[in-house]
Amino acid sequence: MGKSLFLYIFLFYWHFLNALFTVEAPQSLFIVERGNNVTMECTFPVTGKLEFRDLSVSWEKKDELKQVYVLRKGEEDFKNQHSDFRGRIKLLKENLNLGQSLLQITDVKLRDAGVYRCVIFYGGFDYKTIHLKVKAPYRIINQGVVSTGDNEWKLTCQSEGYPEAEVIWQNRNHEDLTDEASTRFETGSDQLYRVTSTLTIKSGIDETFYCIFWNKELQENTSAILHIADSADGILQTESRRFFGAAIIAAAFIVPGLLCLFCIIKARANKGNGTPVTSPSIAKLSKDKDTRDCRDDASEDRELKCWSGKSIY
Ligand SMILES: *[C@@H]1O[C@H](CO)[C@@H](O)[C@H](O)[C@H]1NC(C)=O
Ligand SMILES: *[C@@H]1O[C@H](CO)[C@@H](O)[C@H](O)[C@H]1NC(C)=O
Repeated sequence: MGKSLFLYIFLFYWHFLNALFTVEAPQSLFIVERGNNVTMECTFPVTGKLEFRDLSVSWEKKDELKQVYVLRKGEEDFKNQHSDFRGRIKLLKENLNLGQSLLQITDVKLRDAGVYRCVIFYGGFDYKTIHLKVKAPYRIINQGVVSTGDNEWKLTCQSEGYPEAEVIWQNRNHEDLTDEASTRFETGSDQLYRVTSTLTIKSGIDETFYCIFWNKELQENTSAILHIADSADGILQTESRRFFGAAIIAAAFIVPGLLCLFCIIKARANKGNGTPVTSPSIAKLSKDKDTRDCRDDASEDRELKCWSGKSIY
């Protein structure tokens, strides 16, 4: 009778103590970009000065049962730390005094994603779970525009990220062209997806298309703009936006100069007989204003107009 009463009181007291001792996780979900640092937090009650010898803290990755960090009776113990975390884990010890168990993971990897459990013994015992999501945005989109002849173009967008992204294609009016595209996924380094999407489409020159990498899980979009510009057939026009920009600038300076030179030669050749220029190579370039001016005007004026056009550059 005396024994069971003692047990009863003990259990009551134990539950009472444990009820007082609660670990909290102020934030239960962390989303962090691969390569960045993250600090996950649990709190526990501390009254007065913290007694290190009475404190044990552990962090483990619950889904794979990997030990991340252990502080046993005030002493750090890295013996059984999983190799995934070696050298990347730090518990901010100065914060323990405030009742905070702050676990810092540096250089976060995609494989760090999962459910973590922070466990604390300090008089009582309790734990909480925290979810860590790791993302890798499809930030840099490499693009290619290739003419396959006969007004047909092969547009390519390629990028790396995580998790898997959908690639959506749109034309200038943002009409959806995704059904006409094909998208390929490969796994690259550190679980990243290398996504390559190709759209083959009939189009005139001076057209604009968009490829959008839609990371559904993270509700994140990144996009690239592809221009179809006038150029020799079959030549890879752009490999990146920067190259494309450089090409446009170069073309802006060189093309009018060449056209004028061409005009002058033609003008000289046609001087005297007064027949209009009908060269197919000129007709093809008729959207260039300078050229049209040159061709439409009387032959005597051509040379002058061309030269004045050229002098702008
Ligand atoms: C992550 O933390 C380490 C060590 O504290 C620091 O050297 C590094 O600059 C941090 N990295 C980022 C991206 O904040
Ligand atoms: C991302 O783009 C797609 C297609 O344009 C759209 O349906 C979706 O709502 C966009 N999401 C966000 C978060 O902007």
